[in-house]
Amino acid sequence: MATIEMKNIVKQYGDNAPAVRDVSLAIEDGEFVILVGPSGCGKSTLLRMIVGLEEITSGDMLIDGKRVNDEPPRDRNLAMVFQNYALYPHLNVYENIAFPLRLHKGNSNEEIDKKVRDAAETLELTEFLERKPANLSGGQRQRVAMGRAIVRDAQAFLFDEPLSNLDAKLRGQMRTEIARLQRKLGVTTVYVTHDQTEAMTLGDRVALLKKGLLQQVATPRELYENPINLFVAGFIGSPPMNMLPARPNGDQLELPFVSFTMPPEMAEVTKGHELLIGGIRPEHFADASAARAPENGVRFTAGVDVVEWLGNEQYAYIPFEAPGEVRKTLDELAQDLDGEKMQQQIVVTLEPTTRVREGGEAELVMDVDKLHLFDPETGENLMLRTRSGEGDGDGDAAARTASADGAHAAPTTDA
Ligand SMILES: Nc1ncnc2c1ncn2[C@@H]1O[C@H](COP(=O)(O)OP(=O)(O)O)[C@@H](O)[C@H]1O
Ligand SMILES: [Mg+2]
Repeated sequence: MATIEMKNIVKQYGDNAPAVRDVSLAIEDGEFVILVGPSGCGKSTLLRMIVGLEEITSGDMLIDGKRVNDEPPRDRNLAMVFQNYALYPHLNVYENIAFPLRLHKGNSNEEIDKKVRDAAETLELTEFLERKPANLSGGQRQRVAMGRAIVRDAQAFLFDEPLSNLDAKLRGQMRTEIARLQRKLGVTTVYVTHDQTEAMTLGDRVALLKKGLLQQVATPRELYENPINLFVAGFIGSPPMNMLPARPNGDQLELPFVSFTMPPEMAEVTKGHELLIGGIRPEHFADASAARAPENGVRFTAGVDVVEWLGNEQYAYIPFEAPGEVRKTLDELAQDLDGEKMQQQIVVTLEPTTRVREGGEAELVMDVDKLHLFDPETGENLMLRTRSGEGDGDGDAAARTASADGAHAAPTTDA
């Protein structure tokens, strides 16, 4: 097992804008790190530079402290676990797992047998060793692919969107399986995905990329609760964080549905701003009469146009009008997020027992303590300045790669 350290890694293809820009990230021994971001943000390129399949334009790639920029993939001893599993259909499970060992003439049959059987044991594949891949489930095939990585005693596992071709149910199962195996083996793992759910559920830490630039590196909880900018806030979470115009007016903050007196630290950060973007997650609203309604929340009444009842919870959709200025920022954000156009509506999570009718009015409470305020120009989450004291303080913030300015309008050279 190994540490993987990237220092100011850049990848430039020809004259194009750099695919990866100045990425610095230190992955600890045994850590499970997710590289996530919208399609085209440079995830695969970065992973391929770690494993040695892509030349590094500039910067240093260190594995266990040793610079490997010029070492070919086989000398780095990292195992790429491919998306399509790349199993040989004519070989049974045993031979598929043994395959990388057979490539080295030095391995005796006894050694190979022991390694294959040990790996099969770990992966709970012992009873399938004679089977061909065609007669395995998707989950079992994935495990065979991992078995191959295990027998090589690779220093780290690298995954590039291994689950993207599977249906939703299998994806869920496989996600759990990979998480379990990684914990069991304790192998340093870098896992690429564009799926925020995978990122949130799998990793010890998540590194979120936008257009080749690292936005924030943090635990899933930290990313969810304290997103450093509008992009991170919009990417992480499903349904996504609600974004709405927020206009400071003296000590009041005017939102589309309600105005309220800001707590002093909020009033402080809004100074000098005419219009901000408020961000609040669906679950930070509640039915005013519900038990979980926040005590010091702000109450308001709003017209609900659609209700989705899901059994364990329900979502109420509340449309609003945003001024052009905010709309422009939100449309840009939607584009960056690779998503549909941002709807001018808020989504509110309500308990399934709450009675709200489509076309009716709802009495709601919003938890003001959970409201984020973003600078529409830079995308920076201004509330983090006031909340940073709650965490481990600033040392942590530095490790998170704070680049709020880089996040919104890239300060670097490209057009
Ligand atoms: N071999 C290549 N030649 C030129 N451009 C490339 C090549 N590979 C990737 N790119 C570009 O680099 C950027 C990042 O690609 P990639 O790392 O595949 O993104 P992701 O895996 O996040 O979807 C994209 O703009 C892509 O078009
Ligand atoms: Mg990719």
